[in-house]
Amino acid sequence: MARILVTSALPYINGIKHLGNLVGSMLPADVYARFSRACGNEVLFLCATDEHGTPAELAARAANQSVEDYCAEQHEIQKRACFDFGLSFDHFGRSSNAPNKRLTQHFAKVLEDNGLIEERTDRQIYSIDDARFLPDRYVEGTCPNCAYEKARGDQCDNCGTLLDPIELKDPYSSISGSRNLEVRETKHLYLRQSKMQDAIADWIATKDAWPHLTKSIAGKWIKEGLQDRSITRDLYWGVPVAYEGKPRPGFDKKVFYVWFDAPIEYIGCTEEWASAAPGRNWRSWWRLDEGAADVRYVQFMGKDNVAFHTVSFPVTILGSKEPWKLVDTLKSLNWLTWYGGKFSTSQNRGIFMDQALELLPADYWRWHLMANAPESDDASFTLEHFASVVNKDLADVLGNFVNRITRFCASKFGENVPAEGAYGEVEAKLIADLDVKIAAYTAALEAMEFRKACAELRGIWVAGNEYLQIAAPWTAFKTDPARAAAVVRAGLNLIALFAALSAPFIPHTAAKMAAVFGIDLAREPWPLSAKAALERLPPGAAFALPEVLFKKIEDEQVAAWREKFGAE
Ligand code: 2FM
Ligand code: ZN
Repeated sequence: MARILVTSALPYINGIKHLGNLVGSMLPADVYARFSRACGNEVLFLCATDEHGTPAELAARAANQSVEDYCAEQHEIQKRACFDFGLSFDHFGRSSNAPNKRLTQHFAKVLEDNGLIEERTDRQIYSIDDARFLPDRYVEGTCPNCAYEKARGDQCDNCGTLLDPIELKDPYSSISGSRNLEVRETKHLYLRQSKMQDAIADWIATKDAWPHLTKSIAGKWIKEGLQDRSITRDLYWGVPVAYEGKPRPGFDKKVFYVWFDAPIEYIGCTEEWASAAPGRNWRSWWRLDEGAADVRYVQFMGKDNVAFHTVSFPVTILGSKEPWKLVDTLKSLNWLTWYGGKFSTSQNRGIFMDQALELLPADYWRWHLMANAPESDDASFTLEHFASVVNKDLADVLGNFVNRITRFCASKFGENVPAEGAYGEVEAKLIADLDVKIAAYTAALEAMEFRKACAELRGIWVAGNEYLQIAAPWTAFKTDPARAAAVVRAGLNLIALFAALSAPFIPHTAAKMAAVFGIDLAREPWPLSAKAALERLPPGAAFALPEVLFKKIEDEQVAAWREKFGAE
């Protein structure tokens, strides 16, 4: 049994996430965590809301709430949506909680002691009417690259260029709209990443097994050379720049930059998890000198987060010269687009997590999203494709299999697993075929190749249907009821097998399938042997007829949703 720490990139607090965010990190992380648990490993799966920075302050202002209240409320909303989607976090924390504050200040202190933080004077935009500096998104203006007129201080949403606020043309305050701005000097702390170039490059060089996308993005940053970066901001909301309870002189009105404290929340969140129940030790997951040397740490994230996790956070960890655990495997994903464009709340384009669950249960979305995950390239979500995948894979192949065999059994043999008849050549062939397919499926999950894993799983369901076609218990029943009974027994065992194998992707449906036989999937080993799986159910055991597992999506539903969610 291995100890596996799994984290998903932390969703920003400002608003519920869309399907693209979900498939970009939280959902694949959940599939992997569920699979790892099912294989008998000790898994700790963590996530949290990323609550600091300008997006939180601005969203709270727009909602006419204090930022504290706004974050508390939004955290609960996101937590609920994650739970309803079946995301099986062991803890869903908050980056604004006390452990992250303490740890962030600790890391800054040791980095400064190690000569990796220095004070520099910056030129920044100051709003005379708002009486404050305008960091990041507090200032908007015209993009120097593409002339888009509503570019934000940190990034242009139109062309994607990362910006420094003073580069914007015709800047204005996003709080008051005031153009009464000037450039003033102010002090900030810089993390001297350039000094860690060799250490980070050497560490990344040991990561040959990283997935291709991660490796190529990390390699690009190393090749360009690590840049020192400012890790403080003139904001109210964030971790105060203080060491050992005392504000750092000259920094009493400043906080750490959100991207400095956010990844530290992976550790903070572990401490939150440990505090929530007795007997839990967060340090054994993070400190190499306290048990974490045998932990395998796997991170999930969208491609825009890779630099922060392969360079910036490792600079914090390695630069501390303390024995903290570093990531072992980092799975990154491309973008899921909405009909080839961006998901957008303001333009009413796309489906967000809460809306999705009002339309259909989580497993419909989970399956489609993972079967078409943006792994090797960006992928486009369309409702037409979604409906076709759900109708074919879930309703026609899996749902129909379960329905057909349970109903046939009930009508001919009653609601018990038939005991008569013996498995023969057709079953031997099925077992050999399934052994190969299960091994390929398991290998794809281990490699975190989710599209491939879904294709393999679909192949396993199809093999079950093909078996029923060939073995045809409905024909056999007329001449050889014992033979029909053996086929039905195999079919029912296949349902239990499919439940165990499908649980990482469609956990709610898998639980329903297992419940037909009173099986608790949490206690089932990962089924590597098809032979053992076909003998899983005791002959004669009672079962309960399941409800229809998946309803087909009709053309009229697709048309109505297209209208509602801005498909074009
Ligand atoms: O890009 C994002 O959505 C960030 N909130 C991810 C943070 S991941 C971690 F470092 F906290
Ligand atoms: Zn631009």
